[in-house]
Amino acid sequence: MPRRPFVAANWKMHKTVGETVDYARELVPRVGDAGDVDIVLAPPFPALPALVDAVADLGAGDRITVAAQNVHAEPQGAFTGEVSLPMLQACGVTAVIVGHSERRQLFGETDAGVDAKVRAVAAAGLTPIVCVGETLAEREAGRTFDVLDRQIDAGLAGLSREQAGAAVVAYEPVWAIGTGRVATPDQADAAHRRIRASLAARFGDDAAGACRIIYGGSVKPDNAAALMAQPDVDGALVGGASLDPAAFAEILAATRPPDSRIMEGRC
Ligand code: 13P
Repeated sequence: MPRRPFVAANWKMHKTVGETVDYARELVPRVGDAGDVDIVLAPPFPALPALVDAVADLGAGDRITVAAQNVHAEPQGAFTGEVSLPMLQACGVTAVIVGHSERRQLFGETDAGVDAKVRAVAAAGLTPIVCVGETLAEREAGRTFDVLDRQIDAGLAGLSREQAGAAVVAYEPVWAIGTGRVATPDQADAAHRRIRASLAARFGDDAAGACRIIYGGSVKPDNAAALMAQPDVDGALVGGASLDPAAFAEILAATRPPDSRIMEGRC
């Protein structure tokens, strides 16, 4: 079964509600160039309802879905400053980024915390976009695969086979995020193959073969096609370049569905 490409924009802490609606108006007319691709936008929390509405009003609700950048694992409670899954679902959000390296490094998120959130997201029927990736020191010490194995084991531990197959894993080497230093297509593909093997060991070949593994870290219009032509790279999680609708649309256009890769003899 070919995997449908999944390309998500992680805006991080950028854009007001007004800027978000303007962005949707600029992006939607451009996505006609993108093939059969899941297009996902992850704005900050305050812009989620406006973005869901804007996409629907622009007639693109079937092409573009909306994700949150974080969530609390509990459905409600005394957790000042946090946002729950029922709140996100009520806004029309269908996916959640979990365990981004900025959350791990700057806000103290642990593997156990990521596990709790991933379980809750999947149990609620939303798509978890689970971020994994090594630091530069870990890569230079030859520990990349150990780190990926640990993060996959810990982060997806609570999922059933079916939930693991429906999840998205984002390989985001920390040294490539926001640095302009992108992983080479070979480096990305090797990491993705390792992640898929790790998934297969835990969940079996069917789930591992269904799970979309996407690459994040300095994806730009000029490097997207080479990355996404790799057999085990099923899409992208785009930070900086996704803030510009024209650049994000170019990245989407560079994402060809699996059939066209097969026709070019890449598989
Ligand atoms: P950049 O594309 O800005 O490197 O960010 C990648 C990222 O962290 C996406 O989640």
